[in-house]
Amino acid sequence: MAFGVEELHPIFAARVTGLPVTADVEPDAVEFLEDAMAKYAVVVLPAQFIDDQTQVEFAKFFGPRETPAVATSLFGNKTRLPKYLFDASNVGMDGEILPADHPRRAIRKGDLNWHSDASFNPVPTKWSMLHGRIVPPHGANTEFCDMRAAYDALSLAMKAKVDRMVALHVWWHSREKGGFDQVTEAQRQANPPVYHPVARTVARSNRKALYLGAPVKSIVGMSDAESAELIEELTAHCTQAQFVYSHFWHAGDLVIWDNRCTMHRATPFDDMLYKRDMRRTTVVEYAPNWAAVG
Ligand SMILES: [Fe+2]
Repeated sequence: MAFGVEELHPIFAARVTGLPVTADVEPDAVEFLEDAMAKYAVVVLPAQFIDDQTQVEFAKFFGPRETPAVATSLFGNKTRLPKYLFDASNVGMDGEILPADHPRRAIRKGDLNWHSDASFNPVPTKWSMLHGRIVPPHGANTEFCDMRAAYDALSLAMKAKVDRMVALHVWWHSREKGGFDQVTEAQRQANPPVYHPVARTVARSNRKALYLGAPVKSIVGMSDAESAELIEELTAHCTQAQFVYSHFWHAGDLVIWDNRCTMHRATPFDDMLYKRDMRRTTVVEYAPNWAAVG
């Protein structure tokens, strides 16, 4: 196969052509995509007009697939999508735009904050693969930042500091920051806090990256006030314009990002007027990565 690569940003993100999303992926395509992801961290595969099953089958070539149990459990385990597909849409079971007071709207507001998908799980998410089925005509970009370049740009003193830091990630913390206030005790217990190193080395690229995001509630060994100040300082550092790529969606785009070395956020659009049907498969690492913690 002849694959094409077009860089989308000076330091990361690329569009890859000639690599169709299929249910049976050739080994050379798997290797090419793994290498492209190690280099670029965000890869866009354009014009992939695929169905749910093809998206689900494609994902399994890149790691164990994550079952998005948390999101569906809020709504009586109802989802219109098959297992392994996470619904990142503003439409309901009937495919129509959700009413203004639907709880999923309140939950999804948290996506406007910078985050790494599912960092609240004990085993980090490797890649997210988000497919645009129906996209608004304008707005609704997804913004990404390169946490490897952000790490590289830290001072030596700050590198030494973050290399030894561990963060507490709490799923509901990110949602509450987004304004969601309907968390039950049972839901809190279903998603207990987890710990992750703040700096980690990502397999294949062997580059060190910061690992942060909206679920980070505190840094181990620091007061809440100290934690909040440092998290804010690091987040502001990581999301400077030179580290950010903003993706405008075309229907059929499959955008893949490495959650271990990027953060992303949604941007607003008129979501009572336009449908945005986005479906995500997610693959996980095999085990927590504590190698970076000194
Ligand atoms: Fe996300």
